[in-house]
Amino acid sequence: MHNDQAAGLRAMQSSTTELEGMEEQTEQSIPAETRSKNAKPVRVIAVASGKGGVGKTNVSVNLSVALSQLGNRVLLMDADMGLANVDIMLGIQTKYNLVHVLNGEKTLVEVMADAPGGFKVIPAASGDTRMAQLSPAENAGIINAFSEIDAFLDVLIIDTAAGIADSVVSYCRASQEVVIVVTDEPASMTDAYALIKVLSREHDLTKFQLLANMARSEEHGKMLYDKFSNVCEKFLEVSVDYLGTVPFDHDLREAIQKQSPVTLSKPNSASAKAFKRIANDINKWAIPNDATGYLQFFVENIFRSQNN
Ligand SMILES: Nc1ncnc2c1ncn2[C@@H]1O[C@H](COP(=O)(O)OP(=O)(O)OP(=O)(O)O)[C@@H](O)[C@H]1O
Ligand SMILES: [Mg+2]
Repeated sequence: MHNDQAAGLRAMQSSTTELEGMEEQTEQSIPAETRSKNAKPVRVIAVASGKGGVGKTNVSVNLSVALSQLGNRVLLMDADMGLANVDIMLGIQTKYNLVHVLNGEKTLVEVMADAPGGFKVIPAASGDTRMAQLSPAENAGIINAFSEIDAFLDVLIIDTAAGIADSVVSYCRASQEVVIVVTDEPASMTDAYALIKVLSREHDLTKFQLLANMARSEEHGKMLYDKFSNVCEKFLEVSVDYLGTVPFDHDLREAIQKQSPVTLSKPNSASAKAFKRIANDINKWAIPNDATGYLQFFVENIFRSQNN
């Protein structure tokens, strides 16, 4: 192991002091008496689509805002290695990512940026190949770093890249829930179907949540859902639940221009209201009480599958 890697592992493993600092900044801190080193369940949700440009990053960012407003401590991970979209949409500048953690330059807590709306962001690691070639010791270091933050988190949202890249598949496999975003375009539907096919046939995923975006109305969104879920349930052995519809909304486009999530800049807009309704429903989902309900399951799987 190189010296810088060893330093990285040490830095990751000794991040407790900063975690305490992070806790102080967090409005909904865990009371001291319930704080413990023991793992606590965390909701882990991957947002995926197949086709690009259908609204994954908007869904991830606005659900992060809305879930934070419901009192959750949310971490949004930008897993799109190609483009740093989350930063741009939130109007924040980030300098560090998981690669800096591995290189020993920063701790995990130091790379988490504060987002307007009261949540944290882990910026995209632009060096995808670096993340895909971790040694077992580096894996262990990252897993340790994540297992130290689970006491400070309620929800982890992963904004994935377009397509069916290995990294997208591994993020989906490691998450408890996979939200598939579709729009009323043939390519969006067929690419989402192809993604579900790979995830179900090759990786045994059987349950998905569908979010219809840029719809004309709730009825339009439900019609897309019916069409899509019928085909999936007929040809693939999966269940697809209806998560909700987000309408096509000019206010959302304006918000993107202003680099501020629509849920914050136009909270009464049609899309913001839809995001809030969806977040309310997500908030009622049961967190699995088996091993998959823990952050460690996510982290172990993510790095295991990226290394295979
Ligand atoms: N509900 C909506 N109403 C109107 N326009 C929307 C809506 N959702 C997304 N858009 C438009 O679609 C564009 C792409 O959205 P977004 O970046 O969230 O998609 P993405 O799936 O993350 O894309 P990529 O695959 O490139 O990561 C936005 O810039 C915006 O113009
Ligand atoms: Mg995106």
